[in-house]
Amino acid sequence: MELLTGRAAFRAACDAARGRGVTVGLVPTMGALHAGHRSLLARARGECEFVAISIFVNPLQFGEAADLAAYPRDLQADLGVAEADGAGVVFAPAVEEMYASGEPEVTVDPGPLGSVLEGASRPGHFRGVLTVVAKLLHLAGPCRAYFGEKDAQQLELVRRMVRDLDLPAEIVACPTVRDADGLALSSRNALLGAEERRAGLALSRGLSAAAALLGAGEPRAALLRGAIEARVRAEPLAALDYAAVVDDATWTGVEEVLRPARALVAARVGAAGTRLIDNVRLDPPAVPRAAERAE
Ligand code: PAJ
Repeated sequence: MELLTGRAAFRAACDAARGRGVTVGLVPTMGALHAGHRSLLARARGECEFVAISIFVNPLQFGEAADLAAYPRDLQADLGVAEADGAGVVFAPAVEEMYASGEPEVTVDPGPLGSVLEGASRPGHFRGVLTVVAKLLHLAGPCRAYFGEKDAQQLELVRRMVRDLDLPAEIVACPTVRDADGLALSSRNALLGAEERRAGLALSRGLSAAAALLGAGEPRAALLRGAIEARVRAEPLAALDYAAVVDDATWTGVEEVLRPARALVAARVGAAGTRLIDNVRLDPPAVPRAAERAE
């Protein structure tokens, strides 16, 4: 496995791989690698002969300086994980390498979906995400790029960017990896104490409650949202940011879940206000066919 810190070297490694006729797989991350990231690497490894993982804590996507400073970093451990998971290249540039001219003047406008939900709570976040992802995709060249459903809005925005800007990447969505108790894995979980971690379970519990309600025949989005909000509000260590139910294709709000939708939740947990997000797809229960209904 090669550790590369320069953009030119990273581009050359990906070009060389394609020159050998192999498919390039790219897994963009901010490091502090956990089983969620590893599932992306495993999927990439299964589908691409050459796998590159990028590890870059992107300042452009952080609003608060304190949040950026607190973000967990452990490059040595990450290199061990990447090697064990069969990455051919780790691209881990310094900030000055990635943004060689300082903060970029030209950035990617995420469009309307960039300013709702996570975008409303974190102004400028998705502009920063899409700008760095566009840079990484340009450096990597034609590739398959792997993203987690854990960050569903990010995944959708990356898909829309690739579509609208004709980027030569195929985006592959990977399911959310959870701990046995349901907590979605996140690098930020490392910032939680035991009590806070327990409080963080309110997010996945709320989403499960909403999915169960829908399964039991309740399609009204306001009630599904209410079930999520109730779980989070019942938890003294958690402060709800938002709960929402959107159409899974258009990402606009829905009154009733009659087509595939997505329930999303964000909350701050504990004294340090660690921000956690989670989401699940909501599939309306199958409508019985006419013959079955008649029985
Ligand atoms: P990061 O939070 O490190 O996540 C990197 C990738 O891993 C993202 O695609 C994310 O959705 C996925 N991921 C994180 N937790 C996961 C889980 N529990 N299950 C499955 N996939 C999971 O997302 C970012 O970094 C950055 O915004 C980035 C795209 C790298 C741009 O800076």
